[in-house]
Order: sequence, then structure tokens, then C-alpha cells
Amino acid sequence: MNPIKHVAIIMDGNGRWGIIKKKSRNYGHKQGLKTVEKIIKESLKKKIKFLTLYAFSTENWKRPKNEINYLFTLLDNFLSNKIKQLNKEKIRFFVLGKKKFNKKLNDLLNYSEKLTSSNKRLQINLALNYGSKSEIISAITNLKKKKLKINESNITNNLYTKNIPDPDILIRTGNRKRLSNFLLWQLAYSEIFFEKKLWPDFNEKDYNKILNIFKKTKRNYGKI
Ligand code: IPE
Ligand code: IPE
Ligand code: MG
Repeated sequence: MNPIKHVAIIMDGNGRWGIIKKKSRNYGHKQGLKTVEKIIKESLKKKIKFLTLYAFSTENWKRPKNEINYLFTLLDNFLSNKIKQLNKEKIRFFVLGKKKFNKKLNDLLNYSEKLTSSNKRLQINLALNYGSKSEIISAITNLKKKKLKINESNITNNLYTKNIPDPDILIRTGNRKRLSNFLLWQLAYSEIFFEKKLWPDFNEKDYNKILNIFKKTKRNYGKI
């Protein structure tokens, strides 16, 4: 049985879900947040140590302003209301990506990271303004500045994910089979699950099905 330390998720399909329900894309995002809460709870139950959630990519800035504003308002409200509770539950909150938002949100993200920094039960990495290519470029730029060799461990230790083990599992909901600039380096040996359901419809049962398949999968890492 494979132990599960780290699950990463591309939470895709909110917009389509909102439209299918004859409401708005933003309505889909609001519903998607409920799935986030379900999956956090289930991850705690399953004693998973790291949960990485792709919430906003560097490419998502190309979306309409109204949608971008809605997403960040959702995040702001969620953290303002829930960070104390997450802290009580011994959850660590950590941002992957460059924190370049308005001052209020930057402050809230920094506060949330600091408040929860010593928690060890579950670490939630929120990929926000995250792009894997820019992460790799900044890692290599760091190495050049520090005059360090460009090798595998030095690159790994200069990514946003330094000190975080690579994901065992990547899940992408929303019936699209692509990585969309997510964790390109870290996913080298992850087990990948593409899920047809849209993110707001994804539930604990779907999640557990994937975790159970993973547990029985033989991981070779090039060996036999
Ligand atoms: C959520 O799904 C991903 C985010 C950027 C928050 P989408 O908003 O991409 O939904 P679809 O893929 O358009 O349905
Ligand atoms: C990936 O979804 C980004 C997030 C889930 C945050 P997108 O919907 O942005 O990906 P593409 O554009 O369809 O590849
Ligand atoms: Mg999408």
C-alpha cells in the first residue's frame, strides 16, 4: 500500500458548472468553494500531510475583470472568516506564487501564513498567481545570484515548494487532460487522475475512489 503524503488538485470546471445551472460563472466559483471545504475535511480524515490547490494561474489574469475580482473577494472572505478555525484545527496555510495583490489581500495572506506557520497536521498550499514556468525561471535566477550549481537538488530547493515533498497524486477535475502550467517540475513522478466531473460536483466519494486506486498502484521510478 502506498502512503499518501501529498495530493495536488487542479480545481477546474466551476465556470461551466455555473452556466449549466443557468446561473453565472461566478456562481460556479462560489459553489466550488464548498467542494474545497469538503476536500480539506476529507484530507484531514485521511491524514494527508500536504494538499495543494490550484486556485489562480498566472494566465488567469487574462479573464474578465469582474470574474477576477469575484475570485479574490471569495478568497478574502474565506480567509477572513475561516483562518482562525483552520489554525485551531492545526492546519498550516501557505501560498505558492508571487503575492502581488492589493494591500488588503497581501496583508491577509501574510497574516494567515504567519498565524498558522507552526501547524503540522495538514499543510494547505494555495497556488495563487502561480505559474510553473515562472517558478522554474525564478529558481534558476536565484541559483545564478547565489553562484550555485544548476543541478536537481539546487533547483528543487529554490522552487516555491522547497521543503514540500513532490505530489504523490495530481487530480484534475473538469474533463480536460492538461496541466495548464501547474507544478511541471514537481509532477515528474506523480500519479495523474483526470476526472470528468466539474469541480463543484466532485465529492468525498470521488476523492476516496482516487486515493484507493493510488494506494494499489505500483510506482516504478524507472525501475522494474
Ligand atoms: C475554476 O474553473 C478554475 C479557476 C481559475 C478558479 P474554471 O473557472 O476554469 O471553470 P471552467 O473550466 O471555465 O468551467
Ligand atoms: C487551471 O484551469 C487553473 C486553475 C484551476 C486555477 P484553467 O481553466 O485556467 O486552465 P485552461 O486555461 O483551461 O488550460
Ligand atoms: Mg477552466
